[in-house]
Amino acid sequence: MKLTGKTVVLGVTGGIAAYKACELASRLRKAGAEAHVIMTKNACEFVAPLSFETLTNHPVVTDTFARPETWEVEHVALAKKADIFVIAPATANIMAKMACGIADDMLSTTVLATKAPVLVAPAMNTGMWESAATQENVQTLKKRGVHFVGPEGGYLACGDSGAGRMSEPEAIFDAICGILCPVQDMEGLNVLVTAGPTREALDPVRYITNHSSGKMGYAIAEAAQKRGARVTLLSGPVQLKAPAGVEVVDVLSTQDLYERMMERCDQQQIIIQAAAPADFTPVAFAEEKIKKDESGGMILQLKETQDVAKAVGKRKQKGQVLVGFAAETEKVTEHAKGKLAKKNLDMIVANDVTRPGAGFNVDTNIVTFITADGMEDMPQLSKADVAQMLLDRAMKLYRKK
Ligand code: PMT
Repeated sequence: MKLTGKTVVLGVTGGIAAYKACELASRLRKAGAEAHVIMTKNACEFVAPLSFETLTNHPVVTDTFARPETWEVEHVALAKKADIFVIAPATANIMAKMACGIADDMLSTTVLATKAPVLVAPAMNTGMWESAATQENVQTLKKRGVHFVGPEGGYLACGDSGAGRMSEPEAIFDAICGILCPVQDMEGLNVLVTAGPTREALDPVRYITNHSSGKMGYAIAEAAQKRGARVTLLSGPVQLKAPAGVEVVDVLSTQDLYERMMERCDQQQIIIQAAAPADFTPVAFAEEKIKKDESGGMILQLKETQDVAKAVGKRKQKGQVLVGFAAETEKVTEHAKGKLAKKNLDMIVANDVTRPGAGFNVDTNIVTFITADGMEDMPQLSKADVAQMLLDRAMKLYRKK
């Protein structure tokens, strides 16, 4: 069974969709998971705890204030036991508490204490979902790595129509499986990812660089490794921990990146270039620190660096998939399409780096996937989610070759 040996803590909050959580609990049990349910006081108004107790074969945790002697033990124990923490349905209220770190009942306390991945399935009235407060809370939680499934659009119990319906139990179950048992569809593939900035030295103490933190590339490398690929990460100077199981090759300048890339690119099935290599480098490197000379300024002469992606594109191997990024500030898709063609890429991931929540040195990105066949605009997502979507598309292209 798919989830044998896995412990799922299912938090149920007060909403009409609480009845659907019964089906989810039943699916989890049938898939071999051990499910423990925590219900808020309001959730108990919609569904009786006994329903979940019968479906999961475990006592349901509700209001622990009635049993203060078990409070500590219970919330810490379940928080530690969880392989995944799911909240379905999740009201605007529980998301607000999670975003602020409020722990005033068993569910909010336990989810605050857990180190397990958290998946939230929101369900609420459209107005509540679309409110600035809820949307800000969602973004805060996403930035912290909380996973979301839904909400869906459609007819709501309150009579309104719009976004706010909880995803179906099947979709929530699939999202749980996706987190607990990631696909191994990249097994046996060599994947090379580039990440971070480069530094172009002027003299022994100064250099030209950019704002890249490496987060985007590192998220891709980590995701590909978890999907079974042998991953090489050519990394500019960043402050990130190497993802487990990934071979990291440090590079400093664009020339370094070019050389390390040329040594390795022919052996790769997929190459994803998320690095931000400098396009220009000083014509000359001053051996000693450049001094001020009372002239009031200096003219720095630069020359173009190697275009690494273009060089890889020129020697593209049969069956190889090449993915580039385009960091743009205007005419985003137009410029990105130009780079797709010029660098002989199979896909380019365009990001408008001027948008809040996108591009350099943030935990989220807003991207458009562009191939010869078309374009797909994505909403603001965590870089981990962008990485998964990018790999899904790269694998599709790889299978087609
Ligand atoms: O690192 P983060 O802080 O997470 O930020 C992520 C990011 C903004 C760096 C990333 O999402 C991104 O957009 N990476 C590409 C940055 C860039 O150099 O874009 P570009 O449009 O200038 O280059 C297009 C492509 O050519 C890129 O794949 C780039 O890696 C490559 N390139 C660029 C210059 C060069 N000399 N050689 C190259 O290979």
